[in-house]
Amino acid sequence: MENKQVAIPQFGEAEVLTIQQASIPRALAGEVVVKVAFAGINPIDVKTRAGLGWAAAQNKDHLPWVLGYDISGEVYQCGDTVQQLDVGDRVAGLIGFPLQGGGYSQYLSVPEKVLSRVPESVTLEVAAALPLAGQTAVQALDKALVQEGERVLILAGAGGVGHIAVQLAVAAKAEVFTTCSEANLDYLATLGAHAVNYHFSPVSERVEEADVLIDLVGGDAALDALKCMKDKARVVTLPTLSAELICEKAHLLGFEATGMLVEPNPQQLDTMLYMASIGLLKTAIYHIYPMDQVVDAHKQMETGHTRGKILLDMQC
Ligand SMILES: NC(=O)c1ccc[n+]([C@@H]2O[C@H](COP(=O)([O-])OP(=O)(O)OC[C@H]3O[C@@H](n4cnc5c(N)ncnc54)[C@H](OP(=O)(O)O)[C@@H]3O)[C@@H](O)[C@H]2O)c1
Repeated sequence: MENKQVAIPQFGEAEVLTIQQASIPRALAGEVVVKVAFAGINPIDVKTRAGLGWAAAQNKDHLPWVLGYDISGEVYQCGDTVQQLDVGDRVAGLIGFPLQGGGYSQYLSVPEKVLSRVPESVTLEVAAALPLAGQTAVQALDKALVQEGERVLILAGAGGVGHIAVQLAVAAKAEVFTTCSEANLDYLATLGAHAVNYHFSPVSERVEEADVLIDLVGGDAALDALKCMKDKARVVTLPTLSAELICEKAHLLGFEATGMLVEPNPQQLDTMLYMASIGLLKTAIYHIYPMDQVVDAHKQMETGHTRGKILLDMQC
């Protein structure tokens, strides 16, 4: 039996992505081997592949390196002392984050405690879409202390993090404003947000007196969005490259502002999987690529215009 993985032998364009063969790992004590069905793709995978950011810096001497943090699949083998899971259980998780990665593998061994059980009514596709993006959305809204009735502006509501953040903020009874292209206006309206086409005019001309900004774009778009905020507004900015600049500018304007790095939290994934199981949370899955088409998948992510999530089908 083989264990195919997608690795980067060197940093570079999408074409460096390579399928390699490894042996199926054995589960150590407290670990389970997961037979991965779907692996989620996130912007950090693309940045790391290109040699950008801290995950690349930390792993530059460990190439080839297997990308990927989001997995769903079935338990294939249980190590000693595993208590909560059995062979055949359906699971999902944010694994190896941020430095280990490894999610683009057909089999991998992970501590059982990092995994969530996938409810019967939730597909493994949906489960693979939720870990990193979903936990980021939860943690960003938590950090911003979003309260019922507040006006929350979420930049890039149609993306992997954004489409979940919009739904969670609406569920928290906030009034949600978001930015997107023409093609996503109706989609975001159906999720309950006031959607603004950022190609048409800057968001600062369309939204005012917002209590909270969740910035999923960074740079000039975030600087413009600061003009929409009321006194003492709270700002959480996610793109790490511009976080310092945005926080500095926000502080000068008298806002509370912080960057953040998502922290794996299986309980938050449990909650989102439950919400998905009862129809309270809907994931948009833009496309599922067979693992041997990973180059196309990364190119799609690099367009910056994916609605929801892209997955790799690891079973073929
Ligand atoms: N710090 C952390 O822990 C952390 C965790 C997760 C993600 N992030 C970062 O957060 C950002 C978003 O992540 P993601 O997974 O949601 O990315 P994504 O899925 O790639 O986002 C794609 C979406 O961005 C929208 N978009 C592109 N340019 C835009 C603009 N100028 N204004 C408004 N929307 C725009 C697109 O919508 P349209 O097609 O409608 O334009 C598209 O739907 C990335 O920079 C990512 O690296 C950080």
